[in-house]
Amino acid sequence: MQVSMEKTAGAPQAKTGAPHMKITKLSEHIGAEVTGIDLRQPVDAATRKQLYDALVENITLVVRNQDFTPEQYVAAVSLFGELMPDESEKNRLPEQPLIGLINSRAIDREGKRVMTGERWHSDHVNQPQPPKFTCLYAVKLPDKGGATNIANTRAGFATLPADLKKRIEGMKTVNVIIGSASKSVNADRRAWQAEAAPPPVIHPLVRTHPDAGTKALYFHPNKVENIVGMSPEDSQVLLEDLTERALKPEYVYSHQWRPGDMLIWDNRSAFHRASFDYDPAQHRLLYRTLVKGDTPR
Ligand SMILES: [Fe+2]
Repeated sequence: MQVSMEKTAGAPQAKTGAPHMKITKLSEHIGAEVTGIDLRQPVDAATRKQLYDALVENITLVVRNQDFTPEQYVAAVSLFGELMPDESEKNRLPEQPLIGLINSRAIDREGKRVMTGERWHSDHVNQPQPPKFTCLYAVKLPDKGGATNIANTRAGFATLPADLKKRIEGMKTVNVIIGSASKSVNADRRAWQAEAAPPPVIHPLVRTHPDAGTKALYFHPNKVENIVGMSPEDSQVLLEDLTERALKPEYVYSHQWRPGDMLIWDNRSAFHRASFDYDPAQHRLLYRTLVKGDTPR
């Protein structure tokens, strides 16, 4: 499903139930900003479809000027589909377990700062049905820095040389909580993998978007144990090479947070990573929600 921006942005707005809603593209390859809507208010089916289609087309949406309680936030993200909890119980907000915490003050069992999401990745790919959308809502922000960066992996895949595309298209990743050769130093995840040792989950390295029909790179380098037929070490080298070649600066939207921002992206067409360029003495706290997806193909 490809929705033209003219259709998305220019539909007769009086019929949407959100007469002041405006969707504006942020760049040629990725991102759109949504203004003039308060997602605490009821949203009709036409507006909901307009938002969903704009998200699939633009890969990420920034909805400005929201003011949510945890319950209101969960209700707003539910406009995009059914939510699923963070796989780590430790990360969940106690009073609303569908909200996961991205907390700059989190430390692991060794007392080290947890640098969650510092590498380009897609979320929860060790699940058989990983989330199709990830959404963040800013609760506490540093004075500067701490952007969330989103990259268009369908443009990234399309830009690769034809022989490389052909080589990787049939590849499968074997996904766990944390890959033995991955660069992650998160001691909690290493311990969790060693203790729980859940059965690995296999996914395509290149997935086809179920709505749009487009192909995109699809992996989380920290969660890949190996690519089928390759060693864990060689797999990491290939994933790093693909990331470097594919994620050109023009395919990246770097979201500089403002209070009231809700940022949502399509994990089926995007990688994301957090910037750790802010003063660690300042608190950065985001509420994360995940929208259920289907089996990647
Ligand atoms: Fe993530």
